[in-house]
Amino acid sequence: MDFSDRYGPWAIIAGASEGVGRAFAHRIAGHGINCVLIARREEPLAALAQDIRNESGVECLALSIDLCAPDALARITAAVGTREVGLFVSNAGADPNGSHFLDTDIDVWMEQVNRNIGTLVRCSHHFGGLMRQRGRGGLLFIGSGACYGGGSYMSVYSGSKAFALCFAESLWSELRPQGVDVLFFALGTTDTPALRSLLAEKGLPLPPGLASPDDVAQIGLARLPHGPVRNWGTEDDVPGYAPNSPDARRARILAIDESSKRIFGDR
Ligand SMILES: NC(=O)c1ccc[n+]([C@@H]2O[C@H](COP(=O)([O-])OP(=O)(O)OC[C@H]3O[C@@H](n4cnc5c(N)ncnc54)[C@H](OP(=O)(O)O)[C@@H]3O)[C@@H](O)[C@H]2O)c1
Repeated sequence: MDFSDRYGPWAIIAGASEGVGRAFAHRIAGHGINCVLIARREEPLAALAQDIRNESGVECLALSIDLCAPDALARITAAVGTREVGLFVSNAGADPNGSHFLDTDIDVWMEQVNRNIGTLVRCSHHFGGLMRQRGRGGLLFIGSGACYGGGSYMSVYSGSKAFALCFAESLWSELRPQGVDVLFFALGTTDTPALRSLLAEKGLPLPPGLASPDDVAQIGLARLPHGPVRNWGTEDDVPGYAPNSPDARRARILAIDESSKRIFGDR
């Protein structure tokens, strides 16, 4: 199957209006797949949708939806209707606060939990279920190296990314035999408007060696069939900044699958 047969005819990019999400949208549309673009701000989203229609000739739906809201999935499904979604990219997930846990209001943290965990789980259940029925599709979660351990200024962020990492590995294990690809792509520091504005707000300079969103999108889509984990900047047999390599993680999951089969049967 080529890319659009496997992951089309529609893709959802959650957090699409700028940076990494925007780059994914351009590349996915370049494969002839229609795009549902989601972000909160209407104007940049509408402009991107028009650019993509002009550039690739695909259909584009721009949805202004807050992914922190408990009804985010209901709003997405209402707008998507009967369109067949073969690819769900969960991109929105950065922490705009950069603060110690107790120095920021709990409601702010809970919004991040809702977006990075609640909406991710709901959307994966809904769209993953439809993909399983069709026997094809892809779930791509944009993660961060912060998934491999916590530290100051990262409490809810690293915790939610660790959740997404383990969640993706489990989904990969369950859905791969059903034709649905799952990838958690752990990024390093990437040149996005969100990162630039956080650094500017804190009076910090841009660090050297930033990844480009377009390179991230290109590698993310290329690695989607080779989940469950990819780390930015390293091959799958190299641990890099992680405690173990994606290959070692994959081997562990496959070993656990074998023992699970003995307990739960082969289903
Ligand atoms: N940039 C980095 O250095 C870096 C490093 C490691 C990992 N990552 C990961 O890469 C992904 C993208 O990061 P980013 O730096 O581009 O920032 P981001 O804030 O995660 O993503 C920006 C995009 O998401 C949308 N968005 C953010 N919150 C949203 C919400 N509540 N509802 C709907 N849309 C929302 C933004 O549009 P609106 O503002 O209009 O909603 C924008 O289109 C994240 O998952 C992040 O964890 C980034």
